[in-house]
Amino acid sequence: MRTLNVALGERAYPIHIGASLLDRPELIASHLRVPRVVIVTNEIVGPLYLARLQHGLEAAGVAVSSVVLPDGERHKDWQTLNLVFDALLGSRCERSTTLIALGGGVVGDMGGFAASCYQRGMPFVQVPTTLLAQVDSSVGGKTAINHPLGKNMIGAFYQPRLVLADTSVLDTLPLRELSAGLAEVIKYGLIRDPAFLQWLEINLDRLLARDPEALAYAIERSCSNKAEVVAADETERGERALLNLGHTFGHAIETGMGYGQWLHGEAVAAGTMMAAELSRRLGWLSPADVERVESLFRRASLPVHGPALGVERYLELMSHDKKVEDGRLRLVLLRQLGQAVMWGDAPASDLAAAIEARST
Ligand code: NAD
Ligand code: GLY
Repeated sequence: MRTLNVALGERAYPIHIGASLLDRPELIASHLRVPRVVIVTNEIVGPLYLARLQHGLEAAGVAVSSVVLPDGERHKDWQTLNLVFDALLGSRCERSTTLIALGGGVVGDMGGFAASCYQRGMPFVQVPTTLLAQVDSSVGGKTAINHPLGKNMIGAFYQPRLVLADTSVLDTLPLRELSAGLAEVIKYGLIRDPAFLQWLEINLDRLLARDPEALAYAIERSCSNKAEVVAADETERGERALLNLGHTFGHAIETGMGYGQWLHGEAVAAGTMMAAELSRRLGWLSPADVERVESLFRRASLPVHGPALGVERYLELMSHDKKVEDGRLRLVLLRQLGQAVMWGDAPASDLAAAIEARST
């Protein structure tokens, strides 16, 4: 097991990464305020892993109840969130009960948001079960649900007490979901870790083949990048926004197509190509740089073009982005491969041309 720390003072917490960690309930039990938890999961992950986690915790003397949500991004909404509150109130959970989110980013974001609101805040633990959740969404305390007008628009910053990333659960992850997670892994290389980008170019096939050592290394390196950024800028006043490379375009794709049509990681990959194309038009990336990014996404079976929503529709959807400040759209772009910047001065004609060139 490898352990990283998210250095947030008195709210600091560990990220444990390793095989079969679901069978180590003491890692969770030692973080509980009282020996009582509610596990929030979904109808796909529950049948696979709920009993294992629940029985282990019960054997460690913890009282466990659970709530099983419908699966999918289209259920990341108020109605489904309310099912969590129904369960918490129905089983008389107290403020000291710990909520455990067992699932991918959807369960993690919703479970975390529920924990942030229930009785004004209860402790929570992330047990991420997708690659995407293990490298990104479970770390850093962003929690949210979607609104029909925009992705992740209703939420809170609320840190977990612990992240337990069991790499063995990735064995059951569909290949398409593994690829989607790789989009966020590649993101770290592009925004701030050029050596990792090179490592990914060499080792991508091992990741696609689920080589346990390669996966553990990529998860650890991704989490260590994320933990550094979050420790420096927890509430996204500056550097943390760079973690959203490709996301402004990507969120437009997810919202515009209807939640769940494009996987989040797929939308991020296509959105990153739009950001790369715009960076090329600003003279920052060379055509060869753009090809390098495209080739990595293609090898990971990720889309390199967005859907043909039309430039006007993209721009309208993007105008809801959380990085819009004083009405001005700011985008994460690439100064060079391995160095992202926040930029609000891209000419409108270049932005439109980049979207046009990278949507089919
Ligand atoms: P997801 O949670 O929908 O999971 C993908 C699919 O895999 C689902 O059908 C899920 O039930 C299934 N699944 C999960 N674990 C499995 C396993 N071990 N075996 C088999 N199937 C499994 O999607 P995701 O890609 O994990 O997360 C995407 C979400 O994360 C988006 O809503 C996105 O906005 C959010 N996100 C949040 C942050 C953040 O910082 N909070 C960062 C990135 C993404
Ligand atoms: N996924 C971007 C962030 O956590 O800031």
